[in-house]
Amino acid sequence: MKLIVELWGDIQNLSIGEIRGIFEGEEIPYKIIIEDYPIILLEAENGKFLQRAGLIRRVSQHLYSGRDIPRLNLYMEDYVIRVRRREKNIGPKNIERIRAKGIEGSVDLKNPKNVIRVYIASNIHVGLEIFEVKSEEFEKRKAKNLPISYPITMHPRLARAMVNLARVKEGSKIIDPFCGTGSILIEAGLMGMQIYGSDIDLRMIDASEINLRKFGLKAHLKVSDVGGIEGKYDAVVTDPPYGRSSSTKGESIYSLYERAFKKFSEITEKVVIALPDKRAINIGEKYFHLREVYPIRVHKSLTRYFSYYQK
Ligand SMILES: C[S@@+](CC[C@H](N)C(=O)[O-])C[C@H]1O[C@@H](n2cnc3c(N)ncnc32)[C@H](O)[C@@H]1O
Repeated sequence: MKLIVELWGDIQNLSIGEIRGIFEGEEIPYKIIIEDYPIILLEAENGKFLQRAGLIRRVSQHLYSGRDIPRLNLYMEDYVIRVRRREKNIGPKNIERIRAKGIEGSVDLKNPKNVIRVYIASNIHVGLEIFEVKSEEFEKRKAKNLPISYPITMHPRLARAMVNLARVKEGSKIIDPFCGTGSILIEAGLMGMQIYGSDIDLRMIDASEINLRKFGLKAHLKVSDVGGIEGKYDAVVTDPPYGRSSSTKGESIYSLYERAFKKFSEITEKVVIALPDKRAINIGEKYFHLREVYPIRVHKSLTRYFSYYQK
């Protein structure tokens, strides 16, 4: 079926990367038909796995895409039309025009059974909403709402996207060897993965344990330098120090990354990692094939490169 996926925020490339990661991880055939921010139109057998995405808002069944306001010829009980426009210059008048063009039935603004989503971008896209990814859920896991957080704590939507970039199925074994306060482990755990975490700093292991507990999750946690991790994993998903706010105990970040990638190459086939620059990315390429990189600007002097590597 054709699906309209509304993206979250304006980091389109990473959002689309995450969607690809989910379909490929679950081995579901899919095809992206159009990218027309804030939506993409895709063809897939079903979109239910997208419910686990961090960087989307909602998914609708596609009804129409084109230049003009469509004649839909629909009968809908208790429906509402919600419009999102990329440009600000199209007013509510247009909603009336859409309604006038072929939807019969009763409107319910408060508790609608059917939500018709209209996106006005380069083209007009109309869909019938299938599900929404609830923002309140992510809100609960933001740093300020965790029992223990530090400035290093990663945004839950980004942490989730990182896990999904690793092309993993529910039940996979994931390790974060620089787990900090546990945000990547929390997202992986909530998606049904087996979670393993380690960090050189005991305070961080305690923080991860307490934060995970808040969401009813338990990980295999241990205090360890990245060089000391053992076992085999479906993927490493991690956010190492960038040599700024989180400590490397005096080691240069490049020496740390060299040791880390060498270790990763012994324990996994797949790595998703946030890195601070090209030099760091190149170090990973000595041990793995670099498949994808998504630069996301954090502020003037820091861009995080979300990188996906495979053996
Ligand atoms: C950027 S933070 C991780 C943040 C984490 N994603 C979160 O949301 O809290 C990097 C972590 O790496 C840890 N670390 C630094 N050097 C390490 C090493 N050699 N081995 C393992 N962990 C190390 C730090 O203690 C810190 O918790």
